[in-house]
Amino acid sequence: MRRGSFAADVGCDHGKLAAALAQRGICPRVLASDLRPGPLTGARALVERLGLGDRVQLALADGLCGAPPELVDDVIIAGLGAEETARIILGAPWLKHPDKRLVLVPASRHGLLRELLAREGYEILKEIPVQEAGQLYTVMSARYCARPRELTSRERELGLIDPSLPEGRSYWLRVLGRCRRIEAGLLQAAREDPELLRRQRELARYIEGELEEHGN
Ligand SMILES: C[S@@+](CC[C@H](N)C(=O)[O-])C[C@H]1O[C@@H](n2cnc3c(N)ncnc32)[C@H](O)[C@@H]1O
Repeated sequence: MRRGSFAADVGCDHGKLAAALAQRGICPRVLASDLRPGPLTGARALVERLGLGDRVQLALADGLCGAPPELVDDVIIAGLGAEETARIILGAPWLKHPDKRLVLVPASRHGLLRELLAREGYEILKEIPVQEAGQLYTVMSARYCARPRELTSRERELGLIDPSLPEGRSYWLRVLGRCRRIEAGLLQAAREDPELLRRQRELARYIEGELEEHGN
């Protein structure tokens, strides 16, 4: 999140992130929302216990419905699947402004989300791979650049993940493993979609070459 920005934490669940952003002075105001009343009750209890009621506003909402665009600079959507994350972004066309920022931590299908962002004219500015409890995540920051485009297979699957970082290497290896599995599964179907098989092979070769070059 950009220091000093007004933030919206969509799908805030327990509210810990929203509370931390406000408590640490990173964001002077945070709008924390969730689709379900249960999590919101928990988040409200946390916010009140920490005395953050003047800085964290809670809302029961689907995505960014009802969020005032003029009071939100940075939107974080963490822990939701790629399709739901994309649906929330598409449901708020006011995000298509270069001053707004997205901070996304998709729970699944990172490639799909990268593809949808690019098609809608968003550019990914940075991606940080994170390994936590045996899971690999990517934290993406993105903004609208008004240049919709299609991604190559490499861009879709690897994003801006740096393979020279230990977590980045793990990420690339995971993509390589998936390419191999797809390759294996596609052997039968290859006659029907030889182009798909060719792309997977090309991506696998590229990953192997790059990882070797990075000395991993
Ligand atoms: C897995 S939790 C993630 C919690 C938190 N963001 C984190 O990363 O720790 C997903 C939360 O998003 C909420 N959620 C799912 N779809 C949503 C939507 N369309 N709008 C708002 N909240 C949503 C769920 O109710 C749930 O509390």
